[in-house]
Amino acid sequence: MLRFLTAGESHGPACVVIIEGIPAGLGISAGDINRDLARRRSDYGRGGRGLLEKDECEILAGARYGRTLGSPIALVVQNRDFENWQAVMRIEASDDEAEPLTRPRPGHADLAAALKYGQGDIRNVLERASARETVSRVMAGAVCRRLLGEFGIRVASHTVQIGKVKLEDTRPSFEEVAAVYERDPETRCLDPEVSRKMKTAIDEARRKGDTLGGVLEVIARGVPVGLGSVMHYDRRLDGALAGALASIPSVKAVEIGDGCALAGLTGSQTVDAITPGKAGFSRRTNHMGGIEGGISNGEDIVLRVYHKPIATLGKPARTVDLATGKSAEAITERSDICIVPRAGVVSEAMTCFVLAQALLEKFGGDNLAETRRNCKNYLKRLATKKH
Ligand SMILES: Cc1cc2nc3c(=O)[nH]c(=O)nc-3n(C[C@H](O)[C@H](O)[C@H](O)COP(=O)(O)O)c2cc1C
Repeated sequence: MLRFLTAGESHGPACVVIIEGIPAGLGISAGDINRDLARRRSDYGRGGRGLLEKDECEILAGARYGRTLGSPIALVVQNRDFENWQAVMRIEASDDEAEPLTRPRPGHADLAAALKYGQGDIRNVLERASARETVSRVMAGAVCRRLLGEFGIRVASHTVQIGKVKLEDTRPSFEEVAAVYERDPETRCLDPEVSRKMKTAIDEARRKGDTLGGVLEVIARGVPVGLGSVMHYDRRLDGALAGALASIPSVKAVEIGDGCALAGLTGSQTVDAITPGKAGFSRRTNHMGGIEGGISNGEDIVLRVYHKPIATLGKPARTVDLATGKSAEAITERSDICIVPRAGVVSEAMTCFVLAQALLEKFGGDNLAETRRNCKNYLKRLATKKH
């Protein structure tokens, strides 16, 4: 069973991840992981931290001579900002503790988590709740992406909406989507005119001390028929993907294929008819986003991820001071204006993880050659045309 665990506080010493279940023999390098970390680090809506952090990964365990060993893989990114937070985020006991934060920010975990964990100092929960944790997810996702690559599966994303500015007619080619970061690292939008409008919207929000949300689309290409299962609710690929994507901070909705729009159409407008094709079967449409009955059907898997606007505004929100029970202004933390473009790589990471999990569930194998062999035999059976 493939799984990962993350550790790290936002202004603590490091972001850490341990991944278990990657077969032995997979080629990995810090360079592969750093490429994804760089895409997460910065975009047009970023606040100050993107400039401060380098986000370079170190592989501490699980590989030798550039190949995985089948043992747990431990990865770490040191937080440069910890330099400035040593006194506040000291791990050892201290006689000089920082003033407790007692005015929770609405829209964050501050209030609910402080109450749940019995913390009078909100810093004790907000540090972990910070989306800095997604650095660890991106590291795990990059390793899973390497595994998927061995099976011809690729995952990419692009920005389709920021605030009210939308990219219309979005059935782009996969190659265009895969190359969008190189073309436009600031918004990752395929249309330069729409990208310009997105940046204007972000500028305007920044000027007003406001923030924006938006939508991004993830596409997985090359996923073979048969990942996930119809046999039990918790083995469905759609459920696993939606859950993993909804777990990303600030995500409030996930669509699969044509998603919400399907609810307003008729069956005849939305069925993806099956026709004979090169690989035995083919579809002219993909309204279902590559998943039927909780199982991948061989088409592109298409997912849309909806992010709410960032909850930290230029002007502090109204709140209640936990220390006094009186109305007060919420604390402020350094914050981004819009995170949608760079959140794309976080969604890609979670998608890569779920697909890698489903792939290993289907094909098994403690060694990459064994997993490959199992996959090849299965695909050979599918290619016989008579089932
Ligand atoms: C990559 C990324 C960066 C984020 N940066 C910020 C930020 O700078 N300021 C902020 O208020 N929220 C930020 N968020 C969103 C918050 O982490 C999130 O809204 C908060 O933890 C509450 O969780 P919820 O929105 O899922 O309920 C970011 C989210 C992501 C995915």
